[in-house]
Amino acid sequence: MFSIAIDGPAGSGKSTIAKLLASKLNIEYIDTGAMYRAIALKCLRLKINTDEEIKNMLADTEIDFINGKIYMDSEDVSELIRTKEISTIASDISKIAVVRKKLVEIQQKLASKKAVVMEGRDIGTVVLKNAKYKFFLTASIESRAKRRYEQMLEDGIKIDLNSVKEDILARDYNDEHRKNSPLKMADDAILLDNSNMTLEETLDFMLNVIRGN
Ligand code: DC
Repeated sequence: MFSIAIDGPAGSGKSTIAKLLASKLNIEYIDTGAMYRAIALKCLRLKINTDEEIKNMLADTEIDFINGKIYMDSEDVSELIRTKEISTIASDISKIAVVRKKLVEIQQKLASKKAVVMEGRDIGTVVLKNAKYKFFLTASIESRAKRRYEQMLEDGIKIDLNSVKEDILARDYNDEHRKNSPLKMADDAILLDNSNMTLEETLDFMLNVIRGN
C-alpha cells in the first residue's frame, strides 16, 4: 500500500506536517508517538515500570488509531497523553523490545490496509522500510524548543523556555541512544531542516517531491 514515512526528533514539526500532508493527499494520518504515549499512560495509571510487568500488561492492552484519535482499551486518550510526564515515560518505555514489537505490528497492519502518512522515530528504518517517500524532518534545538514552548502557551500550559529546551534535549538523547530502533535517518530518506522554513514552505517542499516537481 502507498505510504509516506516521516521521522525526526521531538519538536521538529512532524505531527503538524504529517497531518496537513495526509489531509492534502486525502489519505490516513498515523501518529506513532501517540501509541507509545498511550502505553506510558497505562503504565502510569497502573504504577508499573519493570519490563516483566509491562510485558504482562501489553498482552491485555488494545491500541488503536482511528480518525486522528488514539484509543487505549477503547478509551479515547488523545488529550490525556500530552503532558510532560507522559513524554518522559513514553521515551523511557520505548526502549523496551516487547513494547516496540507490539506497536510496530499494529503500525504495519494499519499501513497494509490503507494509504498512510506515518510519523515517528523508526518509520523509515523499521516500520515501513518500503515506504514510497521518506522524510527526515529536523530543526535546530532553538527552533524546536521555541515552537514547543509557544504551542504549550497556546494550550494554557505555564512553562519556561529553558525547561522545554532541556526536556527536548534529554528526550533526543534518550531516543538517539537506545539499543532498539534508535532515532536515525534512513539511508534513502530526504533530509529536511526546517529551522528557517514556515509550515507552508515545509509542506510545499514535500508536496513537490511527491508530485515529482
Ligand atoms: O513523537 P512523540 O513526542 O509523541 O513521541 C513520544 C516518544 O515515543 C518519543 O520520545 C520516543 C517514542 N517513539 C518511538 O520510540 N518510536 C516512534 N515511532 C514514535 C515515538
